[in-house]
Amino acid sequence: MSEEALARIETVLTDIQERLRRLEESARPAERDPRKPAKGLLGFLDQFRAGEALGEASAGAWIEACRVDCLKDGLRTVQMREGMHAVLLEQRLKELGGSPRAEIPAADFERAMADAASREKSDAQKVKEFATRFRDPDEAIRPILEFADRLDEDPETQFLLRTIAQDERATVAFIQEANALLNPPS
Ligand SMILES: [Fe+2]
Repeated sequence: MSEEALARIETVLTDIQERLRRLEESARPAERDPRKPAKGLLGFLDQFRAGEALGEASAGAWIEACRVDCLKDGLRTVQMREGMHAVLLEQRLKELGGSPRAEIPAADFERAMADAASREKSDAQKVKEFATRFRDPDEAIRPILEFADRLDEDPETQFLLRTIAQDERATVAFIQEANALLNPPS
């Protein structure tokens, strides 16, 4: 058999092999690599983690400056929750192969910290500002729940986000309650 004929046979065989491979692939149900995180997930977790770390730090600064007893321990609960969320989010981020990189822009960070630590601004004013930014607990956690809803293939992260969202709802509810107490409608 000529070299040319052999080469032709080889091409045909390679072609058949390739078709078989494709056929096999299409017959197999799509398997998702469980270690491969959903699109945008690592960035979301990392950004969320950075926000929670700022939440912890700014709650701490507010507690230092706080002169209203009924607020202080509620803020301590908030501070612990935020710190715990930051730890849990970082842990999950690392499990999924990511690493904590996101940073809150320095200007935003400094503004949040200065606001929280301010002794010129009253606690009632701080509560009012917070309560105005987050009026409705359900609305406040909606973006977290919407993201979690997309993670059916990653129930571990999905339920981490859902349970964190419940904590955030509790924080917003506490702030609304404190606002009603410290800033009663006249
Ligand atoms: Fe938070």
